[in-house]
Amino acid sequence: MNYQCNYEKLLKSFNFDPVTHNFIFFIMAQNEDLFKKIISHAKEYGYIFPSSEIYDGLSAVYDYGQYGAELKNNIKQYWWSALVQLHENIVGIDSAIFMHPTVWKASGHVDAFNDPLIDNKDSKKRYRADILIEEHLDKLQDKIDKEAEKAAKRFGEKFDKELYLSTNPKIQEYKATIEEVKTKFVQALEANNLEAIRQIILDNEIACPVSGTRNWTEVRQFNLMFETKLGSVTDEASAIYLRPETAQGIFVNYLNVQKTGRMKIPFGIAQIGKAFRNEIVARQFIFRMREFEQMEMQFFVKPGEELEWFEYWKDKRMKWHMALGLGDQKYRFYKHDKLAHYANAAFDIQYEFPFGFKEVEGIHSRTDYDLSQHQKFSGKKIQYFDAEQNISYVPYVVETSIGVDRTFLMILSSAYTEEKLIKEDGSADERVVLKIPPALAPVKVAVLPLVKKDGLPEKAREILDDLKFDFNCQYDEKDSIGRRYRRQDAIGTPYCVTIDHETLEQNSVTIRERDSMEQIRVDISKLNSIIGEKVSMKNLLRKL
Ligand code: GAP
Repeated sequence: MNYQCNYEKLLKSFNFDPVTHNFIFFIMAQNEDLFKKIISHAKEYGYIFPSSEIYDGLSAVYDYGQYGAELKNNIKQYWWSALVQLHENIVGIDSAIFMHPTVWKASGHVDAFNDPLIDNKDSKKRYRADILIEEHLDKLQDKIDKEAEKAAKRFGEKFDKELYLSTNPKIQEYKATIEEVKTKFVQALEANNLEAIRQIILDNEIACPVSGTRNWTEVRQFNLMFETKLGSVTDEASAIYLRPETAQGIFVNYLNVQKTGRMKIPFGIAQIGKAFRNEIVARQFIFRMREFEQMEMQFFVKPGEELEWFEYWKDKRMKWHMALGLGDQKYRFYKHDKLAHYANAAFDIQYEFPFGFKEVEGIHSRTDYDLSQHQKFSGKKIQYFDAEQNISYVPYVVETSIGVDRTFLMILSSAYTEEKLIKEDGSADERVVLKIPPALAPVKVAVLPLVKKDGLPEKAREILDDLKFDFNCQYDEKDSIGRRYRRQDAIGTPYCVTIDHETLEQNSVTIRERDSMEQIRVDISKLNSIIGEKVSMKNLLRKL
């Protein structure tokens, strides 16, 4: 259901005043409601289960079910093909999760991979202090957007948004507050001043969402890396870490790949793999997990050319997202005000989840920081020899880093649709359908005999046995055909092929398309090309 479209109706039925905050909370509640429905749908239909559920689950850890695993694999294939297959100068690797402990000293993770945490003394809930402040800034921005929306309605066609935003006194007040908070926030982060971070929370009267009070503890730093021991004899065992990012596996293999692959700069190394972070606040389902998967690509360039390549990859990566067809307006770039110690530029690609615009992917210009650090800590020369110019240098790096799980959540949130239908006899019906981009859908075709007799199941199996070499198929003969269509809608299958008595006589079947629910009759020999055209990964990649 599109909650925005039903705005007028909702207001009337609930008597909400559109100019008060009640309305904002109402929409938020609706979005929260939508998010809850998505989570329960994902579980009910075999996409995502809480980890170790029979033991009541493990916080911020999830398992992917039979359809989730397929969707995840398809997302990874789309990313891998877009980078490794379509670029002659990008190759992929698969490095180990465990790495030499000095890697994390060199990368700065041991000393600086921290989040500032704060507890509310009344609710005993723990928060990331930086996220509390960022959410406060988002709320102020929301107020500006709502004021502009209201004014647009009031003034109609005459409304000049630019002028309004730059002159309206209330908006100027909000903007000034945002700027002031942002400046103090960036200064506090850069100086690693935890007391100043706490002061921003107090000054802005940021309250605990659970207790509603402002009874806060001090802010403390918390390192996000999981530590474990390598070796079976306790006193000899050395502490190692579960990698918090896959990128370091690429950096430490830079020389291996460059030499064995005879790679010439500019070139990239891509990798997909698990990463682990002991997140302080692990809410929002698979958005912030303690064990998750990343798809990262480090692009090695000549020093001085990194910002050009940075723009190139920003553009390329946004195109990859847009090709999925989830809606261009659902994406935006977010520029980092505070850069990490190794970066000279950083942007996020944000997607509008049911809980607001949030990061799905980061594009970072990481300078020569990581390679130089590994050169220093390992004592090995990590450089590139440019034969044409007869010079050696430590390459600069532009990184694109996207979470598999966040991409999954983005696709799932966009796909989940509740539809009200009118049946042929005029009665009302409804369905929940996952409008997953067909190339990524877990099951591409369901093969359904209309009835369980008269040789229809045998014919259906014969068709399936041919289609299964090209597509992930499912066979279903249980229940009425209508119920079987609904089951396929709920898991997002783009096509249902129905075998009826005419099939036996004329060698034709009906194909039902998921989104339009339209059915056409086609010759069995055409099935492969009709379905292939719509669900092909190749056609998706051609859009890039
Ligand atoms: N190598 C750079 C790096 O790791 P990051 O912004 O910390 O950068 C990159 O992470 C991406 O990894 C994020 O944009 C997000 O999609 C994903 N990610 C990070 N932490 C995550 C978590 N706790 N749960 C799920 N995905 C996460």
